[in-house]
Amino acid sequence: MNKQTRILGISGSLRRESYNSAALRAAAGLAPEGTAVETFGLEGIPLFNQDEERNPPAKVIELKRRVREADAILFVTPEYNYSVPGVLKNAIDWASRPYGDNAWDGKPAAIMGASIGAIGTARAQYHLRQIFVFLNVFPVNRPEVMIGNAPQHFDAEGNLTDETTKDYIRQLLRNLVELMQRIRKS
Ligand SMILES: Cc1cc2nc3c(=O)[nH]c(=O)nc-3n(C[C@H](O)[C@H](O)[C@H](O)COP(=O)(O)O)c2cc1C
Repeated sequence: MNKQTRILGISGSLRRESYNSAALRAAAGLAPEGTAVETFGLEGIPLFNQDEERNPPAKVIELKRRVREADAILFVTPEYNYSVPGVLKNAIDWASRPYGDNAWDGKPAAIMGASIGAIGTARAQYHLRQIFVFLNVFPVNRPEVMIGNAPQHFDAEGNLTDETTKDYIRQLLRNLVELMQRIRKS
């Protein structure tokens, strides 16, 4: 029997009623057969300090382990001031260090995001793609899942209700698994 594909989902928001965390929960229910979307919460990660990079906090050790164990990563990012939230960038930085011990190295990854603005985290997503270059993360190019006007896409309990968005997320996850398989074969 084939091993189950494990996708590690990371939301860049710590907010209790976060649309991005809600989108990540939705993704877990939309994954292709044979694929599990697990999550890692970023709460409790201190600010990166290079003095500590060889002696990181337990939560960072756990993050690096979970990233390495995963077959692929799903980043679900809010957009803060036209970019990636500090919470997410901070976690990315920790797990990329010390130099030569970058947990993200070679991972296939998909990006999606939700915002209350009209263009649904587009600017943050392109910044994240730029960050991937130095991390050596291989991104899924399409579809670009940018959930604008988020309150119109989720109900009061944080369930994703928009069927078109669900289809995009299904496709994104299928493409992520396909990219992972292509990378393995090459
Ligand atoms: C510091 C800050 C900066 C923000 N900047 C943007 C922005 O640049 N673009 C945008 O569409 N929304 C922006 N927003 C609004 C977010 O889209 C909104 O707060 C969203 O709910 C955040 O995601 P979450 O629900 O997952 O926490 C900003 C919000 C905060 C708190």
